[in-house]
This record gives sequence, structure tokens and C-alpha cells, in this order.
Amino acid sequence: MNVQWYPGHMTKAKRNMQEDVKLVDLIIELVDARVPFSSRNPDIDKLGQGKARLILMNKTDLADPALSARWKAWFEAKGYFVVQLDARASANMKQVHHVIEEACKEKRERDRRRGILNRPVRAMVVGIPNVGKSTFINTFAGRAAAKTGNKPGVTKGNQWIRLNKNVELLDTPGILWPRFEDQQVGIRLASIGSINDNILNLTELCGYVIRFMEKHYAGALAGRYGIEPVDVERMAADPAVAYEVLGQIAARRGCMGKGGEPDLDKAAAVLIDDFRSGRLGRVTLEAPEA
Ligand code: G4P
Repeated sequence: MNVQWYPGHMTKAKRNMQEDVKLVDLIIELVDARVPFSSRNPDIDKLGQGKARLILMNKTDLADPALSARWKAWFEAKGYFVVQLDARASANMKQVHHVIEEACKEKRERDRRRGILNRPVRAMVVGIPNVGKSTFINTFAGRAAAKTGNKPGVTKGNQWIRLNKNVELLDTPGILWPRFEDQQVGIRLASIGSINDNILNLTELCGYVIRFMEKHYAGALAGRYGIEPVDVERMAADPAVAYEVLGQIAARRGCMGKGGEPDLDKAAAVLIDDFRSGRLGRVTLEAPEA
């Protein structure tokens, strides 16, 4: 499947990002815990050089806990601070505050040596579309957060949200662009719903999801839809076998065309919605070592 998905506005987003990054001490980067590689931007490490770095593995509630633990360790080994997160839950924000303090210890120490006391750490949230940036900012800053207004040196329109006496957050997130050149990345992002469905062939995408689920989470499809287990090797040898599975799902779910034949498009919509919302279980599509 060839996913065509380069949105033109990314060039502008990149320019804005480069400007905003200059203003902050800490970059809070959101990734989707189901695809921690594919939802990362390849250029962010260069852009964020010299800044404290925190990775929030968001949508952890939908990801495979064992793989999330491996990813967390993998990022930490590379020097990032990491928090696994469900950005919708305010109960999780205390931990984020705590880790921000850790991540900015060095900066505070530097300030102290220069005689600068009590200067708040400035942070910005970045991530590719749909990873949960706005959700996070809303939950983290809360309704009570006071905007501190425009300040000299701040890109026009940007405002700082004062989270407490130690931290200020840029109110608009930096939008990063995914790895457009990599088809595998495109398919994984499409699977989790990060790419507009209008540019996708959902039935084909389901072929990928079915093959992945049968290989890595055997029994999940059978458990949800009551279909026959599939021979993984037969499916690997013949991609069409995935459509047999989709046909079974259509039959089970009463997705039928006018002539009584299985409606694969309807079944695909059911399957992909179940997959994205976690009804097939907590699934992660990639492992750190790969
Ligand atoms: P963005 O600013 O990075 O583009 O993302 P945004 O906050 O708009 O979040 C995208 C969707 O992801 C939202 O769903 C939001 O509720 C959901 N979301 C954010 N964080 C989490 C999380 O930790 N866990 C889960 N399960 N969902 C999360 P939405 O508005 O309903 O959009 P959609 O789901 O209909 O696409």
C-alpha cells in the first residue's frame, strides 16, 4: 500500500518550531506509546540539541504494557527522561511535574552558579499530529492556569502558561512532521488513526492489521469476533488469507451487502475502529530493538 501523506503545511510548521525551540529550556516530546518509533520526528534531536529532553509516551492505556516498559528503558538508556502517560487523566500530572524537576536540575544549578535565582524553566510541547499534545496541555495546565501574556522575544502570538513558580509552558504545541519517506511508518500511523482515513484504503490497511495481530497477538481476533484461528504461515505466504479473515468478521458481525455477500468495507471499518480504541487489547506495533 502506498500511503501518500505529505501535508504541505509542514514546511511552515518546521520554521515555527525552529523559532520556538530557541525560547525554551526543556522540550516535552509526545510520542504514541503504540508506535514510539513511527510517531517520532527524525529531526527533533538536532533541533533540540542542548535542551533538557522529556519524552511522554502517551496513550499508554492503549499500548502493550510489556513493550512500553522496554521502550521506556530504551529511551532512558539514550538519555531522555521518560513518563508513560494517559494525557486525559489529571492524576498523572503530578508525576510529570516531578520528572520535569529532575530534567531541569542541571539548568537550575547553572542558573544558581550565575547568581540567577528563581527563574522559571520554560518548556514547550512538541509532537506529530494526533499524539495528544492539546489534551496534554489542557490537562497539565488545567483551567486555572494563568497566561502570562506576550513577552519581549517571544514569537508573536505565543503566550506562556505559568504552571507554578518553577515552570512556564508555551501555550501552543510545536507540530512535528513524521518520517514521510518510510512506507512502514505510514502504514503504522494509519493503523492507529493518525492519518486522515480519506487518503487510505481501509480494507488494505485491515490486511496489515490482521496479519500483525495474528502474528503477535494470536487469539485476539478469535476472542473478539468468534472466528476460526488462522494459520500464520499460510497467511504470511498468501496475503489474500487476511481477506478471508475479514470475510469471517463480516459474517459474524452481520456486515452484508445487498446481495447477501460479505461486505468487506463495512467489516474493515468495524475492525479498524475496534483496533484503534483498544477493544482488541493493548497493542504495540513496534519493538525498540527493530
Ligand atoms: P494533538 O493535539 O497532538 O493533535 O492531539 P489531541 O490532543 O487532539 O488528541 C488526539 C486524540 O487522542 C483525542 O481524541 C484525544 O482525546 C485522544 N487522546 C489524547 N491523549 C490520550 C491518551 O492518553 N489515551 C487515549 N486513549 N486517548 C488520548 P478525540 O478528540 O476523540 O479524537 P479522535 O479519537 O476522535 O480522533
